[in-house]
Amino acid sequence: MISEKVEALLAKMTLEEKIGQMNQYSGFMDFTGPQPKGGQQAKKYKDIEKGLVGSMLNVHGVENVKAVQKIAVENSRLGIPLIFAFDIVHGYKTISPIPLAEAASWNLSLIKRSAEIAAEEASAAGINLTFAPMVDISRDARWGRVMEGAGEDPYLGSLIAKARVEGFQGKDLGLPHTIAATAKHFAAYGFAEAGREYNTVDVGTTTLYNTIFPPFKAAVDADVKAVMNSFNVLNGIPATADQFLIRDVLKKKWNFNGFVVSDWDSVGELKNHGFAQDGRDAAKKAIIAGCDMDMESYHFIEELASLVNDGEVDLQLINDAVRRILTLKFELGLFDDPYKYLSKKREKETVYSQKFKKDILNIARQSIVLLKNNNQLLPLKKDHQQIAIIGDLAQDKTSALGSWRIASDDGKAESLVEAMQNYPATNSIRYAQGPKFIKGDVHFVKELNVNTTDKSGFEEAIKIAKQADIVIMNLGEHGFQSGEGRSRTKLGLPGLQQELLEAVYEVNPNIVLVLQNGRPLTLTWAEQHIPAIVEAWQLGSFNGSAIAQVLYGDYNPSGKLPMSFPRSVGQLPLYYNHLPTGRPNDPSQQDVFKSFYIDQQNTPLYPFGYGLSYTQFKLSNFSVNSFSESNEFKVSISVELTNTGSLFGTETVQLYIQDPVAQISRPIKELKSFRQVSLNPNQKKLINFLLSEKDLGYYLPNGDWIFEKGKFNFFIGTSSDTSLQAELNLQ
Ligand code: IFM
Repeated sequence: MISEKVEALLAKMTLEEKIGQMNQYSGFMDFTGPQPKGGQQAKKYKDIEKGLVGSMLNVHGVENVKAVQKIAVENSRLGIPLIFAFDIVHGYKTISPIPLAEAASWNLSLIKRSAEIAAEEASAAGINLTFAPMVDISRDARWGRVMEGAGEDPYLGSLIAKARVEGFQGKDLGLPHTIAATAKHFAAYGFAEAGREYNTVDVGTTTLYNTIFPPFKAAVDADVKAVMNSFNVLNGIPATADQFLIRDVLKKKWNFNGFVVSDWDSVGELKNHGFAQDGRDAAKKAIIAGCDMDMESYHFIEELASLVNDGEVDLQLINDAVRRILTLKFELGLFDDPYKYLSKKREKETVYSQKFKKDILNIARQSIVLLKNNNQLLPLKKDHQQIAIIGDLAQDKTSALGSWRIASDDGKAESLVEAMQNYPATNSIRYAQGPKFIKGDVHFVKELNVNTTDKSGFEEAIKIAKQADIVIMNLGEHGFQSGEGRSRTKLGLPGLQQELLEAVYEVNPNIVLVLQNGRPLTLTWAEQHIPAIVEAWQLGSFNGSAIAQVLYGDYNPSGKLPMSFPRSVGQLPLYYNHLPTGRPNDPSQQDVFKSFYIDQQNTPLYPFGYGLSYTQFKLSNFSVNSFSESNEFKVSISVELTNTGSLFGTETVQLYIQDPVAQISRPIKELKSFRQVSLNPNQKKLINFLLSEKDLGYYLPNGDWIFEKGKFNFFIGTSSDTSLQAELNLQ
């Protein structure tokens, strides 16, 4: 039994060794060479030797991991192996679409498969624990980290959280191709005020329980092994030191048995938040709140022993934290063989293995969302067309890898130009880069690096556009314009891209706009003028082929937006599942005292759940019935889906509910289920849903879950802008 082994080991440990297990260092350095002589690196090395480190992050690759593991196992008194952690967010070297893009596939089994592949590659490079999935719900596209999550909806977000945890962890963590997962960031980081990174969060408990917590709860129910604190203050208390969040909700209410790791120096940042007066105070507040492992603040390793010795921190808190950490080490099989993840041969065979291509390319294709397709401009014809491809991103082999892919190599994404040139069609392909997009280093793209002045490149772009039957414009954000630390106040096409789009449109309006971006953009001009728009996010290693195959119709697009796309930034935060207002807007009336903007519509440009196909679908024969089973209300819903177009395609039928009168005001619509159905032309299918009281109830502000009898509305559609509605009275 693992618990007995943990107790036996715990009994042998000194207080310092216990606290050492709670200490995590970053190791962006080479451990295979001679021992460092001075500075922080030498300290880290020494601490590992002394058994004062429980885990390392940012050490990867078999040789390097082996060298560090050897120091811990062979030199420290008890030889306790280290956990090697890393941000495997959307792949290790083979890069899958950014998580927000994958969420747009709504394909849970492929999302799980993508995490499985990431785990297989990362574990072959010595990694045991990933700091993923990020399960933060966010409603604000200004926040750069929306690229890392699953969007705005707690139901979809929960299913994706579960799929990702199961994909990373598999059925048995002892197997060498699985890694432990971390649900992050607990909690409410996605609600940073004004979308500004690391900013204050102030949300009520109704939103916490009903919107922010569900994906974390789903991850815990899926047996996630770690949870990471978030950087933000939540209602005045930094999340890293929030007893309510960590001890009361996570560990007690949800019975989470894994360990809680701080974010990078988030224990130290308690001082900046004005919540701790020094490192000692910070360490004390974090451990009391329930943080088990300190990432890179050094305050646990420096302060906890004296806090225990002085009676300010209960030894039982330390024991509890260490038990949690050691349990994972046993589960990973590190005590049986600390080098089990460290085969050079396996690393060589697995990293960048071609065997992953089929599935990663498939999820990349399924992540693409068709936003507009007037006059069936798409799919492209395969013969004798003059195609002009324009845009710096189209030849870029780094940007489409997106942000948060630390181990991957720049220049390894397949570009759109090369994929189109290699595509088996008789079209002639010409390419013009247009103005250069980013000046200088691309890794920390700030507005300063974006070219807004040098228009060389316009002329050539316009020239080839004039001569083309069709123009593909590949525009959007650079891969490093979203991600951590990349909040934006403007969400249009950055740099000269909008100007370029308009200039090309003047000479040839036959444009397919292929967007690549890590967050929703404001695309109002494009929606009004451009006939075809394809949202291709940042699709990773096989970006080019995925797009080309969709443009040519080898894959009929099926993606659906996981976040609402605003008309303008001023609408943010914007989300479909908002509450009703006391003064709902009626655009047909001249009354100004209503909830609306005088200069913009309330609705998004593209709603949550939206996405077109090259074929058409029709919903009909909608029926909703209730019955009682084992003293519980059940609601059965059915609807018929018909492919009325001329191509095979996949549609996602979405079921939403509304509880129109309740103890607290409830959202105007909430996603409760969906089905992805593939049909041939003229084929139809009856789709059945079954809801129970757990789907109809909600959390009260005190955290109690409640189901209230009464009227419910049911909506069916192919986006959150639903087309069918029915009402039931559950009495
Ligand atoms: O996992 C990340 C986290 O999401 C942001 N800060 C750094 C951590 C470790 O790299």
